[in-house]
Amino acid sequence: MTRISKLIMVHVSALLLELIHRLIWRIGWINYRGLRLAVVRGVFSPKYTITTDLLADVIQQMIKSSYEVLDVGTGTGALAIIASRKARKVVAIDIDRRAVLCAKLNAILNGSSIIVKQGNLFSPLKDERFDVIIFNPPYLPLRPRPPLGLSVFFAEGALLESFLSQARYYLKKGGFLLMTYSTLSIKGYLEFLLRKYKWKYVKIRSFRMPLEEIYVIMAIPHGQ
Ligand SMILES: C[S@@+](CC[C@H](N)C(=O)[O-])C[C@H]1O[C@@H](n2cnc3c(N)ncnc32)[C@H](O)[C@@H]1O
Repeated sequence: MTRISKLIMVHVSALLLELIHRLIWRIGWINYRGLRLAVVRGVFSPKYTITTDLLADVIQQMIKSSYEVLDVGTGTGALAIIASRKARKVVAIDIDRRAVLCAKLNAILNGSSIIVKQGNLFSPLKDERFDVIIFNPPYLPLRPRPPLGLSVFFAEGALLESFLSQARYYLKKGGFLLMTYSTLSIKGYLEFLLRKYKWKYVKIRSFRMPLEEIYVIMAIPHGQ
């Protein structure tokens, strides 16, 4: 794929996501995997987005009742609420105040006891450690712009680097990361950061679409 064709695909993908989200925000509600979720304008909707779907499948299969789970970038709280159907404890964090309000509302509406906090990545946490950290990060390599902003766009990739450099300190021994990525993002960048910050990883799911391949990786810190 040439750089030009990739850039075109990134822009087409951004436009499609914006169109879907504008429609969903107008309605204000979605049904998603047995949940009724409010989706406030500006908050990323899990419906019709393959990344969330792939992670939801993995969560349903891998989360055990003894687990304590952290969902970073929770958006509507969909993945955190799904994880909470099995896990002992789920903490959900988002940098966006609207997402935090949305996730808190959705937790109440769906009878879930997730703990929702606002902040940048791990900043709201103190000494907590988790068995699993989930992250469905923004991955389109464009400057963030309204209305989806930090939900899907990142400009320099600093977010991913901060996440992968810090995540190990919030994992219990034997804990692991589950995160999504796309071939539309910066080529080889995720793999570069995983090596730089000493993660062992394996691709556990992938889904090919006309514009991109989306995948889920499971990663553990080296030395475990
Ligand atoms: C692709 S959306 C995923 C939402 C949800 N997890 C899902 O799968 O439906 C990415 C989310 O990450 C949040 N986010 C972006 N940068 C963040 C940061 N530095 N710290 C915490 N959350 C962040 C966005 O506000 C957005 O809700």
